[in-house]
Amino acid sequence: MSDNLIYRRDFLQKLGTMSLGGFVANGLSAQAVGAQKKQGRRTWKPVSKRKVRVGIVGYGVCRFGAAFGFQDHPNVEVVAVSDLIGERRRGLMKACRCGNSYESLEMLVKDTKIEAVFVATDAPSHARHCMEVLNHDKHVMTAVPAVFGSIEQAEQLLETVEKTGLKYMMAETSSFRADCYAMRQIYRAGGFGRLVYSEGEYFHYHSKPIGSFKDWRIGLPPLWYPTHSTAYYVGVTGKRFTSVSCVGFNAGFPAYKSGANKYDNPFTDEVALFQTSEGGSSRMLMCKGIGGLVVERGRVFGERGWMEGTEYRGATKDLPDTSRPPLPPGVPAGGHGGSHGPLANEFITSIIEDREPMVNIYEALAMTVPGIIAHKSALKDGETIKVPQYTPPRG
Ligand SMILES: NC(=O)c1ccc[n+]([C@@H]2O[C@H](COP(=O)([O-])OP(=O)(O)OC[C@H]3O[C@@H](n4cnc5c(N)ncnc54)[C@H](O)[C@@H]3O)[C@@H](O)[C@H]2O)c1
Repeated sequence: MSDNLIYRRDFLQKLGTMSLGGFVANGLSAQAVGAQKKQGRRTWKPVSKRKVRVGIVGYGVCRFGAAFGFQDHPNVEVVAVSDLIGERRRGLMKACRCGNSYESLEMLVKDTKIEAVFVATDAPSHARHCMEVLNHDKHVMTAVPAVFGSIEQAEQLLETVEKTGLKYMMAETSSFRADCYAMRQIYRAGGFGRLVYSEGEYFHYHSKPIGSFKDWRIGLPPLWYPTHSTAYYVGVTGKRFTSVSCVGFNAGFPAYKSGANKYDNPFTDEVALFQTSEGGSSRMLMCKGIGGLVVERGRVFGERGWMEGTEYRGATKDLPDTSRPPLPPGVPAGGHGGSHGPLANEFITSIIEDREPMVNIYEALAMTVPGIIAHKSALKDGETIKVPQYTPPRG
């Protein structure tokens, strides 16, 4: 691997000194500086003095309920928090400086003061919990993934969002990483043209299981957790995967031995090749078995240019501002590449401005469901399978 990296750096350095047949050779490295300057000048401006009354649920191994800065946002009042486990509930109250709690999400949603809920519970419960929130007339933001291995759940969730007309947002962290966010702006400005090919990668090596609520992570099919990867196509283009062929690998960890997990899943690693609605392809993976590798990243290659990390090379000279929206003073950018604060800010602002949030139900399902189909393909030795489509109604 290190040989490849050295080759790659060398290759990029050479590219930096070459004429690329009319293509811009300076790339986003120079543009990124400009974007940062602009970001420095751009300061957060309140769109309203209104405080959205929020409930927060889930303070598990990742302490996610308190990790997005809702408690620090000037347009938020954290009305109540919840976790089923008393010690965690108290921890979440303290972390969010909130004096009110409920013993469960099911009790919290009955509080009529609450307008919106952040669901940071275990992944298998997300869809059910979000529907519970929506059915109690509240907006919802959920941790990833939107649904857990079930197309039926995806359809029920979509129906509930459409029926209630409330805001639904999936807090997909890669979507708000600086590189992915910049790729989206450049794509929209035509800087890539159609994507010929893209890659999204979520490597998370762990030979020992991560303890989670009711052990949901033990033996988990890798691409049931696809969104950190798929964001590098769907989150960039707003386009869709149409079919998939996927290959699985077993790194020999005990939880993935035959019959050792509740998912009957034999794979620690899955690598999928998708066809896209633009006529291109995407290689998306989730791997737990590659010794020591833990990273979330992606790259895109289009007719008019390509981008990896902060490096854009392409035919577009005037790139748009690629920086993420500024945050209110006191709201930390937070973890996963500084994506947490921007995600919470986007959700709250979408409620105040009464507009769709960036990762709405259609984008959330378009990032989540293709991974479920990819796992099916891996179980069938890479058979090509069509991917269900989730497209917003026109207008
Ligand atoms: N980069 C990312 O986007 C990222 C990273 C880490 C975790 N996550 C997601 O964040 C979520 C939380 O992760 P975790 O590892 O902390 O989960 P976890 O399984 O450790 O904890 C889930 C918590 O939810 C609580 N809970 C479950 N049902 C509840 C109910 N009905 N009412 C109140 N509380 C309830 C449980 O008591 C538990 O404390 C997961 O869905 C995970 O997929 C996303």
